[in-house]
Amino acid sequence: ETMYRFPLIKVRGVPLRCYIADNWDSICAFRPDPSDILIATYPKAGTTWVQEIVDLLRHNGDAEATSRAPTPERFPFLEIHYPPPIPSGLSRLKNMDPPRVIKTHLPFQLVPKGFWENKCKTIYVARNAKDNLVSYYHFDKMTLIQPEPGPWDGYILKFMKGELAWGSWYDHVKGYWKERKKNNILYVFYEDMKENPRREVERIMHYLDMSLGYDVISHIVELTSFKSMKENPMANYSSMPTPIFDQSISPFMRKGEVGDWTNYFSPAQIQMFDDDYKRQMMDADIPFRTNI
Ligand code: PPS
Repeated sequence: ETMYRFPLIKVRGVPLRCYIADNWDSICAFRPDPSDILIATYPKAGTTWVQEIVDLLRHNGDAEATSRAPTPERFPFLEIHYPPPIPSGLSRLKNMDPPRVIKTHLPFQLVPKGFWENKCKTIYVARNAKDNLVSYYHFDKMTLIQPEPGPWDGYILKFMKGELAWGSWYDHVKGYWKERKKNNILYVFYEDMKENPRREVERIMHYLDMSLGYDVISHIVELTSFKSMKENPMANYSSMPTPIFDQSISPFMRKGEVGDWTNYFSPAQIQMFDDDYKRQMMDADIPFRTNI
């Protein structure tokens, strides 16, 4: 099982899975179509949730249409490469006609420039640092192709130092925030989606130049609740093979809540994390909610 847990390799300073780093040149060379939509996130920020929302919007809330295939098949994951024979993101893209809804975890500066040159619609999802970290910790336990998370205490430090796969959460959220106006990126917060899913679904809908009826939107909100998606075999990653995921260790649809971090951080860890957070986020004015 641990034979796939290779160390990360840095690409332009950003630690990535070795399978990705080994294929970096072909990933960089990818040219999207102007009609393609990009969903960009730091891992575990709410990617799958927004993917489902976008797919349902594009299919007028038709759950049968969005059940056509599991998440990784419906939304090619731009940079992903697995141990063979699991197909890469680029090979899925090659076999799919635009417009495609493409997933990436790459920080802004590593995204192929064609996305910005072609003015592709881009939705960025951000989640508060502590919940994002807790979610990633569980994910790293069950994802057998990422380095082992190790003890919780050390994992917090790795997150703070940007040593996890796809690098620094702080640089990631700040990178897209700085570029959002120039590149017309829709910046969405996980906490806002939890607070008022309809409002955020409508925001995404308007950004995609769509306008669906009230009842269709209600239906989409229902189908994309945590409970619905956890039970949906086409959205809960149940078809991912081991050795990629072992969901008996921790399910992909784990908890889906805001503030779960309070169950993991000790008072001393909160203090240390918050002090460092202030330092790392000093140069940004991203409206993350801190009183959660
Ligand atoms: S990945 O691997 O990066 O694509 O993962 P990602 O989808 O970004 O993040 C997974 C976390 O999002 C939670 N999730 C949801 N929360 C609320 N509502 C819905 N519909 C939903 N779908 C997924 C999922 O449970 C993971 O968070 P945690 O905190 O671990 O439960």
